[in-house]
Amino acid sequence: MTFSTRDLSPRIGTEIQADIDTLLSGKHAAEIRDILEQRGVVVFKEVHMSDEQQLAFTGTLGNVIDEGEKGVYKVTLDTKENPQADYLKGAFFWHIDGTTLDVPILASILRAKKLSETGGDTEFSNTYAAYEDLSEEDKAKYDNLKVVHSLENAQQYVHPEPSYETMQMWRRVPSNTLPLVWKHKSGRNSLVLGSTAAYVEGMEYQAGRELLVKLRDYATQPQFVYRHKWNVGDLVIWDNTGTMHRATRYPLDSGRMMHRTKLAGEESFSG
Ligand code: SIN
Repeated sequence: MTFSTRDLSPRIGTEIQADIDTLLSGKHAAEIRDILEQRGVVVFKEVHMSDEQQLAFTGTLGNVIDEGEKGVYKVTLDTKENPQADYLKGAFFWHIDGTTLDVPILASILRAKKLSETGGDTEFSNTYAAYEDLSEEDKAKYDNLKVVHSLENAQQYVHPEPSYETMQMWRRVPSNTLPLVWKHKSGRNSLVLGSTAAYVEGMEYQAGRELLVKLRDYATQPQFVYRHKWNVGDLVIWDNTGTMHRATRYPLDSGRMMHRTKLAGEESFSG
């Protein structure tokens, strides 16, 4: 049985070295959950799990969301492999999953099956660390702000000139008003930002848009970001409640294929 850890940068990301049997035993599940919350991203380099093992490992960490084929979802831009591939182009922009829900997913677990020859890294930003480094004055300023999030806002990044029908389709997903500062039950705070963030409620529209862009730039500075350069067989978990993420550009026909499992959310944005 092996289990050791190594931080990948001062503010975000820890690598865990462990064999598959150790991970599947669940013996270290509580410790992995703790590292995930503290460090935002947990990396298992070239661990080479099967789909079944990935699913079983996910189950040791919490409640698995049933999506894709038997709980494993194919993240790919190949429409033959995934009919929702077009929607996944939104992954090229900083985002948090599930901002149109009151309880977003806790975490995603992504495993590299096939890589793109160019691009296709995944970047993560620690939104707890970004909040913690704000001045006391800014913390007070942002404390009670509310931001309206929508699928439409995120999809506009991908399709800046949508047809009327497409726009109506996006709007079928109701927008959601969320606190800018997520006050978690743990007592820690994180920022809720990303491509779904459309405007700040009660603030002049342009001023609100500027604030959201300024804060996104701030929260994605190098000290808060870990960029994962994938090898086949790597498995990466990120805490969706304390990070934003995005994929770096890769060609649509690259064949890049990642297998994803998800952990159900345990806390609403209102803490
Ligand atoms: C995602 O946004 O969930 C996918 C990230 C990736 O494909 O690297």
